[in-house]
Amino acid sequence: MKIIDLRSDTVTLPPDGMRAAMSAAVLGDDVYEEDETVKILQDRVANLLGKEAALFVPSGTMGNLIALLTHCQRAEQAIVGEGAHIYLFEQNGANWLGGVSFKSVLNDRDGSLDLKSVESAINVDNVHFAKTKLVCIENTWNGHPLSRHYMRDLNVLTKNHGLLVHLDGARIFNAALALNTSVQYVAQCADSVQLCFSKGLSAPVGSILAGGHQFIAQARRHRKALGGGMRQVGVLAAACLYSLDHMIDRLVEDHQTAALLAEELTQFPQIEVEVASPRTNMVFFKCVKDGIDEASLIVELKHLGILVSSLPNVGIRLVTHYGVTPEDILAVVAAFSKIFSKVSVAR
Ligand SMILES: Cc1ncc(COP(=O)(O)O)c(C=O)c1O
Repeated sequence: MKIIDLRSDTVTLPPDGMRAAMSAAVLGDDVYEEDETVKILQDRVANLLGKEAALFVPSGTMGNLIALLTHCQRAEQAIVGEGAHIYLFEQNGANWLGGVSFKSVLNDRDGSLDLKSVESAINVDNVHFAKTKLVCIENTWNGHPLSRHYMRDLNVLTKNHGLLVHLDGARIFNAALALNTSVQYVAQCADSVQLCFSKGLSAPVGSILAGGHQFIAQARRHRKALGGGMRQVGVLAAACLYSLDHMIDRLVEDHQTAALLAEELTQFPQIEVEVASPRTNMVFFKCVKDGIDEASLIVELKHLGILVSSLPNVGIRLVTHYGVTPEDILAVVAAFSKIFSKVSVAR
């Protein structure tokens, strides 16, 4: 039985061409800044994002953590989305490792942080309060790209208050594609950006943190302190370069398979699909009252070779990626039909 793994786009395996590029990579010691492949990757991504410099880091989590530690001193505060990866799924690392405090603001359904709420979350400059330093946004957030006008308005607000912005752009290429713009445009509203190669771009490992020269020089120190200084890591940077050359244009296929999946799933009254026309590669749904419950549905799907994930308070998530074809989507829809017809017979 073929396993159709829709839990995340992190499950993607490197294509053969990527593996070949990895084995052919020119290498050096990157802690000495002597790995030419890493240097090429860093320069290329800095350029793509319109930032002065970039740093290769092992993971998105480390990229975000380093950004927070570099922007904020101890006892300073970062405003984050209540549903943000940085806030929910990274153990609040900047808090316990760097003394950075978080103030959370609700994410709207489209992933944006309501600007009035952000403004009221900013502490006035008073000895009693932590100094607000940074706003963290995520694009895409749960598959939603932040709109162009939202990014512009956020930029105005943060500039007016002298705040910095960090963008968790783990899926920034999906955002740019959905907005029909460049990643440079998406990155423009942020002082620093973290992007991942190990999601839809199918590299086995690797993220980039980009920002100004001084920021990246300090980020390099933090990376070393966290144990993220790597040696002949051009072998991984080569995979990321391959992603830039070969895996970006095909993201449109993931958006199409997600759209097909969402549209097909709307036929089932037992579930409520969050967005019938998703803009990127994620589909969310909830089980409606009196139907099958989420936990049982996940188990039933697994019996049929389909893996999905569940996000607290959000519902079941299905993510399309390089390893999922339109035929797989039809097989997934057939599996839902089978499960739901069994449920209605049993009732
Ligand atoms: C939006 C977002 N940010 C950051 C990360 C962290 O990336 P990593 O798993 O490479 O640490 C993830 C991982 O899935 C993510 O979805």
